[in-house]
Amino acid sequence: MSDPRADQLRSGYATVAHAYREQLGNELAGKPLDRAFLDAFAERCAGGRIADIGCGPGHVTRYLAALGANVEGIDLSPEMIGEARAAHPQITFSVGDMFALPHESGALAGIVAFYAIVHLRSDELGPPFRELHRVLAAGGLAAVAFHAGTDTVHVDELFGCATSLDFMFHPPEAVIAALLEAGFTLEARLDREPYPGAEHPSRRTYLLARR
Ligand SMILES: C[S@@+](CC[C@H](N)C(=O)[O-])C[C@H]1O[C@@H](n2cnc3c(N)ncnc32)[C@H](O)[C@@H]1O
Repeated sequence: MSDPRADQLRSGYATVAHAYREQLGNELAGKPLDRAFLDAFAERCAGGRIADIGCGPGHVTRYLAALGANVEGIDLSPEMIGEARAAHPQITFSVGDMFALPHESGALAGIVAFYAIVHLRSDELGPPFRELHRVLAAGGLAAVAFHAGTDTVHVDELFGCATSLDFMFHPPEAVIAALLEAGFTLEARLDREPYPGAEHPSRRTYLLARR
């Protein structure tokens, strides 16, 4: 990711990282379809190495680790990684960029990217998806979740903290097209309505793509 964009995101998350962990650290407890999707993903990865990209405070990473997965977390924001490490000292978390991952080609059996593409436009997904494709082994799986639609929601405040972040929704067909373009095969797609009171009231799409 270009330095100015990365810097903007890092400062946007620096102020909210702790509150994000407090607010969303247990959100999967109220999201049965997300858990079912992650259960199926972890089973398909069959004990191979998984990276949670854009892991934030690491609650998805923790869920996968509790299933017995060999999983690590990676995020652009040092503050998010600090929160993830504090909450889950037994899991490895590193600062990293999905545009240039630290992994060797073919190193991973699975990648989970929940809401990690939320700060990119739909027409910017090619480079990061090609990078996910590079680090996955043949047959490896990418599990990608995002807000479905065409909105961009700008926030100056999140969970009571001042910030400046743009959250971009994606038409599912555009994300699928970018995955196919990057060399993936689509295995599964789940669309769901928001869980009332548990999250921002947007439609969600979950894709499972195979390298
Ligand atoms: C909306 S949060 C999602 C966090 C978590 N996955 C979840 O489901 O709550 C987006 C996260 O992606 C991270 N992120 C944004 N761009 C990234 C990039 N280029 N590489 C790695 N992480 C990135 C942000 O720092 C932030 O922690």
